[in-house]
Amino acid sequence: MTISILVVDDEETARMVISEFLRSKGYEVLEAGTLGEARNIVKDGNADLIILDVQLPDGYGPHLLDEVGRLPMRPQVIIITAHGEVSMAVDAMKAGAQDFIEKPLDLIKLEAAVKRATEVISMRRELNHWRASQGKNEEFIIGSSSQMNHAIELARRASEMGVSALITGPTGTGKEVLARFIHQSGPRANKPFIDINCPAIQPTMFESELFGHEAGAFTGATQRRNGLMEIADGGILFLDEISSMPVDLQAKFLRALEERSFRRVGGTKLIKVDVQIIAASNRNLREMIDKHEFREDLYYRLKVVDLDLPTLAERKDDIPDLVGYFVRRFNMRQGSNIIDVSPRAMQAMMNYDWPGNIRELSNTIERAILFCDDPVIDLNHLPLEIINYGK
Ligand SMILES: Nc1ncnc2c1ncn2[C@@H]1O[C@H](COP(=O)(O)OP(=O)(O)OP(=O)(O)O)[C@@H](O)[C@H]1O
Ligand SMILES: [Mg+2]
Repeated sequence: MTISILVVDDEETARMVISEFLRSKGYEVLEAGTLGEARNIVKDGNADLIILDVQLPDGYGPHLLDEVGRLPMRPQVIIITAHGEVSMAVDAMKAGAQDFIEKPLDLIKLEAAVKRATEVISMRRELNHWRASQGKNEEFIIGSSSQMNHAIELARRASEMGVSALITGPTGTGKEVLARFIHQSGPRANKPFIDINCPAIQPTMFESELFGHEAGAFTGATQRRNGLMEIADGGILFLDEISSMPVDLQAKFLRALEERSFRRVGGTKLIKVDVQIIAASNRNLREMIDKHEFREDLYYRLKVVDLDLPTLAERKDDIPDLVGYFVRRFNMRQGSNIIDVSPRAMQAMMNYDWPGNIRELSNTIERAILFCDDPVIDLNHLPLEIINYGK
């Protein structure tokens, strides 16, 4: 993950010492000698963290805090105070600064303060994305079918080795749930899981969504923005329905995967990341390759581990397990107390062919519980197409 630090100090030597030190620790460093310069950099969203001196030639450093507070991605601020100015530092912290360090500057203390701020920044980047994806967490039910157990075996291996995986299968077979399972059961569980629903992204915005952009890279890009590849650093990037990724971007994406690095749109700096890729598709990518709608080289790069999920009709033996799980889950969610499913209701569900797969089964149980006043789900709580199937 790249963190940009803005060092604001009018004393050139002090500023250079701090900047060089931070660069040597791998941070991206910007410098400003006046409040005015600092304002310009901050308003473009170019700083994740600001190290701010108090006395500047054109004003009082902490005045910057008002502007910082109005930015969507509030940068962290560490104030540099002269020795003995603790009360001023306290005021600055009330105004929104997170930390302060005293002059003469101790680089070890500076590094520790920067590290604390970095933790907040990376947590916040992920949290913002997590909020947007509502943190959906579900259990993954494996069942006893051999296809599913084989898929899980492969999934475990992908998760341990951190290699790319391609999950295919018809709608509702659990591709997304499996991707989250790989994340939760592997060594990257405590790192981000970032999901991109590819069809939802405008083709023209795709590159900046993935790789981020610099301020002014295109009309409307008023602030620098981190791409999802950067936010996912150390963790997993889940590309749902990857068939919707524009073909010209597929080449760039492949290069980023191979080189483990990329540049932001409008940027020159190479950003290095360690991201495990999981892609999913319910369209047939092989057919798309034949029609030149999907790149073959990317296809092979993604399917280092190939996870093809069976339809529910192919694993009917797992229906009772799944029904049990969904009853438990919706009981909890709806505050109901269903204790059983009648044998004829279960029989009807075993006979049905479930074109919507597990999602359809989940919806069926949710609805049955809603219509059920007794503790037992019976035939009359099921939809007609299931009751009448095959008749
Ligand atoms: N193995 C599983 N264990 C528990 N629930 C599952 C499982 N597989 C699927 N589900 C349920 O089915 C729903 C749909 O699964 P998911 O969103 O992963 O399907 P998908 O394969 O991504 O479908 P689509 O191609 O339509 O996006 C989930 O929200 C979950 O409730
Ligand atoms: Mg899906």
